[in-house]
Amino acid sequence: MDGSSFGLETVMAATKLLLVKPARNILGSLRVPGDKSISHRYGMLAALARGRSRFENFAPGADCASTLGCVRALGCSVERDAKGTAIIDGRGAELQAPSRALDCGNSGSTMRMLSGILAAQPFTSELIGDASLSRRPMKRIIEPLVQMGAEIHATNGDRAPLRIRGARLHGADHRPAVASAQVKTCVLFAGLLAEGKTTIEEPARTRDHGELALRAFGAEVEKTRNSASIVGGQSLHPLDAYVPGDISSAAFFLCAASIFPESNLVIDGVLLNPTRSALLDVLTAMGSRVSMLRVEEQHGELVGTIALVAGKGRHVLIEGALTALLIDELPVLAAIAPFTAGGLEVRDAEELRVKESDRLSAVTRNLQAMGAEVEQADTGWRIPGGQRLHGAELESYDDHRIAMAFAVAALRAQGESVIRNADCVAISYPAFFEDLERLVER
Ligand code: S3P
Repeated sequence: MDGSSFGLETVMAATKLLLVKPARNILGSLRVPGDKSISHRYGMLAALARGRSRFENFAPGADCASTLGCVRALGCSVERDAKGTAIIDGRGAELQAPSRALDCGNSGSTMRMLSGILAAQPFTSELIGDASLSRRPMKRIIEPLVQMGAEIHATNGDRAPLRIRGARLHGADHRPAVASAQVKTCVLFAGLLAEGKTTIEEPARTRDHGELALRAFGAEVEKTRNSASIVGGQSLHPLDAYVPGDISSAAFFLCAASIFPESNLVIDGVLLNPTRSALLDVLTAMGSRVSMLRVEEQHGELVGTIALVAGKGRHVLIEGALTALLIDELPVLAAIAPFTAGGLEVRDAEELRVKESDRLSAVTRNLQAMGAEVEQADTGWRIPGGQRLHGAELESYDDHRIAMAFAVAALRAQGESVIRNADCVAISYPAFFEDLERLVER
């Protein structure tokens, strides 16, 4: 890494400042770390399988390390080798009572999905998280799990720490108000361990990794576009798998490449699941030429190569069901929107307010700091295209996706930018700045 351009330097004891210099172009090829959503699910289901599972390219960030730490505290042996492979010895449906609180760190996925498993265990467990996770809503998983027979005590109504008294669960039908794959997976994991059939029908289609992972471990799951059902009492076999590259991490490089006219980028071995790849349609509408090559199926998931060449496109509107499918990519799409030809409007994205930070405001403030014209509404933004932005002092809000989104935007600004506490990228992508720097031409 060239220390002068992306170096993390400590200027005060607790403040890490990242300096970002403008770029001329994005050129080259890379692989991104294993998908975070799939890694969490494989890690948890491996605990419930009897025998040894192995996952190459398991997501390297702190979030999935939180899941592995919890799985270990629940009595499973967990190892990581030098190449990042996770090796987990599962115990079957019944886990061991943990001797202390289960620490989910910054990871909403860990807390919400693991709760579905803990709700069915013959012991009481406590789930804790960092300050950001302790502010995030948990009612969405408490209600369905209580309906299935668990007893859950939350702090201030629906916040972590959570105390879950496991029980013999019974299957139930759920119709949540919010479309959330974390909630769907939580309910399906509880349904796997419950008596009878559990069904969840969502207001909009969400990522289906929970359903596909359960099938990969040998369970039968019925699914339609926005519903899924499972019959309880099925046992899981262990799984050996290569975790596909995370398309939500690839998104930062793809978006960076899309705003430099001469760029040319290839990303190999990346997840192309249709519930995750709507970004490619958006980038196409914004003018890039995007191709998918060598697509194949691995354990139910589509994987392949993405090639992108930048170009000029039209205004894009993201709303309704599309917003739910793009929820993790919206910050970076908004961060590059001023540099696109047609601009961007996002609606129905109120869920952004309850992510690792309030991403709606975080994006607006950083764009404004760079001199952008941006109109923030209650549930989205309107951002005109064709703008010139200047370098600025930017905040990560301790949110990995905000830090990465603005490292990308800063590449196209006039003049240098600094990003505060940019080291939070380690939540999902510890080597992000090194990988980005390798593709940047100045
Ligand atoms: C995830 C679902 C999304 C997403 C999160 C990962 C998952 O959250 O934002 O990063 O793996 O199921 P919600 O389900 O709360 O929308």
